[in-house]
Amino acid sequence: MAELRTERLLLRQWRDDDVEPFAALNADPETMRYFPAPIEREESDAFAERIHRQIELEGWGLWAVEVVDAAPFIGFVGLARPSFDAHFTPAVEVGWRLARNHWGRGYATEAARAALAYGFDELDLDEIVSFTSQLNEPSWRVMERLGMSHDPADDFEHPRLPEGHPLRLHVLYRLPRASAQRPH
Ligand SMILES: CC(C)(COP(=O)(O)OP(=O)(O)OC[C@H]1O[C@@H](n2cnc3c(N)ncnc32)[C@H](O)[C@@H]1OP(=O)(O)O)[C@@H](O)C(=O)NCCC(=O)NCCS
Repeated sequence: MAELRTERLLLRQWRDDDVEPFAALNADPETMRYFPAPIEREESDAFAERIHRQIELEGWGLWAVEVVDAAPFIGFVGLARPSFDAHFTPAVEVGWRLARNHWGRGYATEAARAALAYGFDELDLDEIVSFTSQLNEPSWRVMERLGMSHDPADDFEHPRLPEGHPLRLHVLYRLPRASAQRPH
C-alpha cells in the first residue's frame, strides 16, 4: 500500500480517527457549496469506509492527507475511477476535498502532483482526468495549476444530477502522460 510524501504533506491510508473530521468537513455548507447538498454523518462514514477498502484492495485511491507535524487530517486527495458512464469513461480521475481552514496554502495542488506522479509512474496510466461543476472555479483552478488542459468539447452534463440542476454542467480536464510535470 502506497504512502506518498511531499514537501509538507503525507498522503496515507485512512485511520479510524479521520472519520470524525471528515464528517465535519462534509457537513460544512461552504465546503460542499458545489455539491448538491452537504453529506450526512452516515453517508460520510460509508464513503470513508469505501475509500479505505479501495486503498486496501489496490494500494491507491483517495488518500487521507495530513500536514506533517501540523494537522493530522485535512481531507482527501488522490485517484479514483468515476462510478458513472460518460464519454470519457472508463478513466482514472484525480480529485480533492479539503477542510476550509486549509484552503489557500497550495495543499491541494501539492498533494495532487504526487497523486498524478503515482498514477503515471506506478500505475502506468496513459491519461488522468479531472472534472467538476463549471461553477466550481476553485477546483478547476487546481486543474489548471496542475497543467491539465480543457477542451470545451469535452464538457458534459453530470448524469447523477437532474436536468436543469445548476451544477449539472461539468468541465473535463485531461492530462496525458506525455504532458505530466514531475514533482521534482
Ligand atoms: C478545491 C479546493 C481543494 C481548492 O483548494 P485551494 O486551497 O484553493 O487550492 P490549492 O491547494 O491549490 O491552493 C492554491 C491557493 O493557495 C495559495 N498558496 C498559499 N501558499 C501557497 C504555497 N506555499 N504554495 C502554493 N500555493 C500557495 C495560492 O496562491 C492559491 O491561492 P489563490 O487561489 O487565492 O490564488 C478547495 O476549495 C476545496 O476543498 N473545496 C471543496 C471541495 C471541492 O469542491 N472539491 C472539488 C470537487 S470536484
